[in-house]
Amino acid sequence: MARNRKSTKKRVDWSDKEHAEALIEQRKFLWDEDYVELLARRIGIKPGKTIADIGCGLGYLSYTYGKFLEPKGRYIGVDVNKKLLHMARKAAARRKMGKLFRFVQGGALSIPLEDESVDVAMCQTLLMHLKEPESAVKEMIRITKKRGKVVAFEPSWEAGVGWNNLREPPIKERLEDLEFLSRIWEGQKRLGEGDVRIGERVPYLFMRNGLKKIQALKNNKVGWALIPPYDTPELKQRIKMTLSSLEKQKNKTSGEKRKEYLEGKRCYMAGGGDAESYKQAVRRRTGRFQRYNEGMMKMIRKERFYSVSTGPFYVIIGEK
Ligand SMILES: C[S@@+](CC[C@H](N)C(=O)[O-])C[C@H]1O[C@@H](n2cnc3c(N)ncnc32)[C@H](O)[C@@H]1O
Repeated sequence: MARNRKSTKKRVDWSDKEHAEALIEQRKFLWDEDYVELLARRIGIKPGKTIADIGCGLGYLSYTYGKFLEPKGRYIGVDVNKKLLHMARKAAARRKMGKLFRFVQGGALSIPLEDESVDVAMCQTLLMHLKEPESAVKEMIRITKKRGKVVAFEPSWEAGVGWNNLREPPIKERLEDLEFLSRIWEGQKRLGEGDVRIGERVPYLFMRNGLKKIQALKNNKVGWALIPPYDTPELKQRIKMTLSSLEKQKNKTSGEKRKEYLEGKRCYMAGGGDAESYKQAVRRRTGRFQRYNEGMMKMIRKERFYSVSTGPFYVIIGEK
């Protein structure tokens, strides 16, 4: 049964060039500054407090929330990846935050911090990548002081929730897309390779593990908005990312396409799909996306492409 399949996928190395660059690019304009201030107040991040950031990567949350800890709070970033931690330390030194920040190597399922040693344990886009997210939640609760906060910033992807002025797909096509992607995402989850729709489940995991006063909030931004004219720094960056991803898609080698095909098939089938429907769906989608992507590039260059799509990025806060 699909449920018993073992994952054969190589674990993602977030420090390789492609992933590290993506981490940097995708984090630009991810949160509005004033919204971060509101969240910091709600979470209780203030001078003198200690926060732990599990799966800290390049330490994005250190400079997002670290400033509220000054002059003498502490930020501790924890990650399994040594190379990322090295880069995070260098970035902290550049920002002259070396004294406040500490980065330690460790896993989310055995966090190398004492019981009840931090005021806030947080993570961003970590749980979605774990085979056992609930075990990580338990660990975050363990290291948090009584009445301290556990916070998760985790998304939930859903297919086809958006509108653009290039093409409105018929309902049949939207349902096909929904099934195609849902099977792949379900397959990844069954294979123990993460759950990209974990956002809605996190409050439940918090509740089940005894956290109180749970708040289920969201990032204030819609998932992705390209609204002409592209005249703000944020829109310019979004356009740059969109064009670069379209170019990358266009220039994929046949070897890369084959690898992607097989990778998708492995997950699709683990998600309960069959080989023939996968083949048909990929064929339909490939032709459609080629035309669509070309049209999108042309319209973007003329500053006429409009697109707004949602994809909630949840903020879950619980009290110990
Ligand atoms: C998508 S990145 C997010 C990084 C950072 N939180 C951010 O938002 O920029 C996921 C991070 O989780 C780390 N990670 C994955 N599995 C982990 C585990 N079991 N324990 C600790 N860190 C882990 C990865 O090395 C990577 O840095």
